[in-house]
Amino acid sequence: MEHKEFAEIYDVFMKHVDYDSWYNFLRSFIREKGTLLDLGCGTGEFSVRFLRDGFSVTGVDLSEKMLDIAEKKIADKKLENCDFKLIKENIIDFESTFKNGEICQVDNIICNFDTVNYLKNGSEFEKFLEKCSKNLKKDGFLIFDAVTEDIFSEIFENDVFLDEEPEYTSIWRHEKLSQRKHLVEIDLFVRENSNDNLFRKYNDIQYKFIYDPKWIIKTAQKNGFEIFDTASNPEFGESRIFFVLKKI
Ligand SMILES: C[S@@+](CC[C@H](N)C(=O)[O-])C[C@H]1O[C@@H](n2cnc3c(N)ncnc32)[C@H](O)[C@@H]1O
Repeated sequence: MEHKEFAEIYDVFMKHVDYDSWYNFLRSFIREKGTLLDLGCGTGEFSVRFLRDGFSVTGVDLSEKMLDIAEKKIADKKLENCDFKLIKENIIDFESTFKNGEICQVDNIICNFDTVNYLKNGSEFEKFLEKCSKNLKKDGFLIFDAVTEDIFSEIFENDVFLDEEPEYTSIWRHEKLSQRKHLVEIDLFVRENSNDNLFRKYNDIQYKFIYDPKWIIKTAQKNGFEIFDTASNPEFGESRIFFVLKKI
């Protein structure tokens, strides 16, 4: 989501997502209040829920626009006095440190809504797992979800998906570029004014990378995690696999 307009419309795109149930699913593993890293936090839907429940949250995202919206959301929900930080950084580089540079490990890490499918290759994915392992306390959870290739047939019909809402119309096109790399091109028409039919057009291209779940598990084990649970949760789409990893 490089464009400001896409970041601004992101929450409208996601309005059908049941973040509350998803949050409850995360809390079924992360029971005790503590420190939490929300990697690829986006507009902060999960961060605000953890903050509201007394966690200390650090949200990390590459997109300044998404972080701005997260910050505004935190203020709108009167959570600005809670313990939170929002940091613009790549999740494959991020290290949570004290002022003296020492690693300050957190209790738990989450990375939601197929953010890992934006990682461009196996070495980026492995770097992500290495950093998570470094940033996480022993026995802490790293929970993330990844989509499989089936997501594309689930969402697209003949590689096209049309989404019409009062605020916008969007046309999504999918193309498989290689064994693992998929292109999703979005034409977004945002209504300029609620009283008329004038729309402004934006275009965004996203690349999604598909990883073999067996490879993810093997690589996680190599980087200091045990597999606590893996699940596909029909509520959030059959083609989405949740990885619940525990740092050993
Ligand atoms: C699909 S959104 C998910 C946002 C949020 N976790 C949620 O569930 O609503 C993916 C987010 O990950 C961010 N992102 C993608 N790759 C990233 C990377 N390598 N480092 C940091 N952020 C990244 C994007 O900017 C975007 O905000």
